[in-house]
Amino acid sequence: MVLNGRPLTVLVVVSLWLLLVCGLSYGVQSDIDCLKGIKAELEDPYGYLNTSWNFNNNTEGFICKFTGIECWHPDENKVLNIRLSDMGLNGQFPGAIKNCTSLTGLDLSNNKLFGIIPKNISHIIGYVTSLDLSSNNFSG
Ligand SMILES: *[C@@H]1O[C@H](CO)[C@@H](O)[C@H](O)[C@H]1NC(C)=O
Ligand SMILES: *[C@@H]1O[C@H](CO)[C@@H](O)[C@H](O)[C@H]1NC(C)=O
Ligand SMILES: *[C@@H]1O[C@H](CO)[C@@H](O)[C@H](O)[C@H]1NC(C)=O
Ligand SMILES: *[C@@H]1O[C@H](CO)[C@@H](O)[C@H](O)[C@H]1NC(C)=O
Repeated sequence: MVLNGRPLTVLVVVSLWLLLVCGLSYGVQSDIDCLKGIKAELEDPYGYLNTSWNFNNNTEGFICKFTGIECWHPDENKVLNIRLSDMGLNGQFPGAIKNCTSLTGLDLSNNKLFGIIPKNISHIIGYVTSLDLSSNNFSG
């Protein structure tokens, strides 16, 4: 097989492009799934998430405007921090948080969350350096 310069270059460029596009869209989609999952898992009696967390508008960075969400960049669906304190949220620790793979801070304090804090929480939120679950009804 003979490969002269040009087809090889094209191949390399296309491969890199595919890698980049797949990598990016994967990260982005998992963060959207993360927030969708959290919204589905938590009861929100005062409608804080109900009105703000709207998944119908799929523009780049749309989740960054959600109540309590901070992104790494305002125009990229990649969640840096989740701050949902004092919202009357009810339910168990939302397992969907594991899909926010770039999360560094999580504040769910002052809500009505209950149940056991997962033992493997350090695997679920591996990069979180700031965690506040105080003033809930967690056990264990
Ligand atoms: C959530 O929003 C929908 C439509 O925006 C509304 O019909 C529903 O009553 C709201 N639910 C709560 C609990 O606020
Ligand atoms: C979708 O979100 C973007 C960014 O927040 C906003 O500029 C745009 O107006 C929204 N579009 C609709 C149809 O809501
Ligand atoms: C994470 O997202 C995937 C889809 O991307 C979904 O199938 C899975 O149930 C989610 N995990 C959790 C714990 O919600
Ligand atoms: C954490 O443990 C639960 C069961 O206790 C399991 O379903 C889940 O996959 C585990 N998550 C991780 C990230 O290890």
